[in-house]
Amino acid sequence: MNEKIIALQNEINEKLSSVADLAELDALRVAYLGKKGSITALLKGMKDLSVEEKKTFGAEVNSLKEFATEKIDEKLIELKEKEIAAEINAMPIIDVTAPADTDRGSYHPITLVQRQCEAIFKSMGFTVEDYPEVVTDYECFEALNIPKHHPARDMQDTYYLSNGQLLKTHTSAAQNAILKKYGKNLMENGVPIKAIFPGRCFRNEATDACHENTFFQMEGIMVDKAINISNLIYFMKSMLSEVFQKDIKVRLRPGFFPFVEPGFELDISCLICGGEGCPSCKHSGWLELCPCGMIHPNVLRDGGIDPEEYIGFAFGLGLTRLAMMKYGVKDIRNLNSGSLKALSQFTDDE
Ligand code: DAH
Repeated sequence: MNEKIIALQNEINEKLSSVADLAELDALRVAYLGKKGSITALLKGMKDLSVEEKKTFGAEVNSLKEFATEKIDEKLIELKEKEIAAEINAMPIIDVTAPADTDRGSYHPITLVQRQCEAIFKSMGFTVEDYPEVVTDYECFEALNIPKHHPARDMQDTYYLSNGQLLKTHTSAAQNAILKKYGKNLMENGVPIKAIFPGRCFRNEATDACHENTFFQMEGIMVDKAINISNLIYFMKSMLSEVFQKDIKVRLRPGFFPFVEPGFELDISCLICGGEGCPSCKHSGWLELCPCGMIHPNVLRDGGIDPEEYIGFAFGLGLTRLAMMKYGVKDIRNLNSGSLKALSQFTDDE
């Protein structure tokens, strides 16, 4: 083999053994294989050789080039692996099993109440449904027996999208879809519809201690053949007694909502004074908590269910209201404030 080639091969081997980082390796590659590198120069110099010499020398230079390329690539992999290992070694060790040294997060009081209500209703055979916050005018109003220009709409102004959709003003907006979803099973297999659907609602509302433009409700419906008001009272009473961990007295007063007939306001005996009368219940002994009623035939019909054969109840529980009562939150605005100081005091392990 040509002496020059042997010398270069040794030189490359030697230099490679002392290369410490990627920059040095790159410099080495340029020095041998770059445009002006020594191996490239050998190839260029071949033009002055005879045809015979070109054959043997050319083959030797090419194998030197291959050798150099291979060795440099090997070194590159070795250096990169070293670099990654060094990076890993430099990382702080995190023991994910160690107890946190900062305060633990907590659930929002509304989440706590919502989950509790969901668990109670599930145990009574209700399904829990999810429903979008952006809905159509049909879902929010028309399908609930509230036609365009009906005065009931005045109470529920909301935020409209440019495509005509709107942010739902009440969880009742899901009633139509739920009736359609489970109606077939009811009519063909006789399986009653029992569903609750919690959700965030929006209204164009001036805010104060009792009003917010964003709040949570939990709607519930039950439809079957012989449902009556005592079923409604039973489920509400069971749920509230469980939430407040004591027997809760309820009463119904007439209330008007276009999607129920008859409609009611369900009051509970004041939790603060036990029904004696105090400033919190405006000295009446009762707190208004949950509007409800027997589903209007038009609503059932729009949901694809024959009102001559089936009947049901619906209620719209104010989850935000319930959370305020349960945790003694005096100003509704605290709940949307994002203030950890206000919100992190509540836990579900009481
Ligand atoms: N959707 C009504 C509101 O937010 C509340 C309501 C009233 C819901 C009566 C019901 C009901 O399901 O039966 O003002």
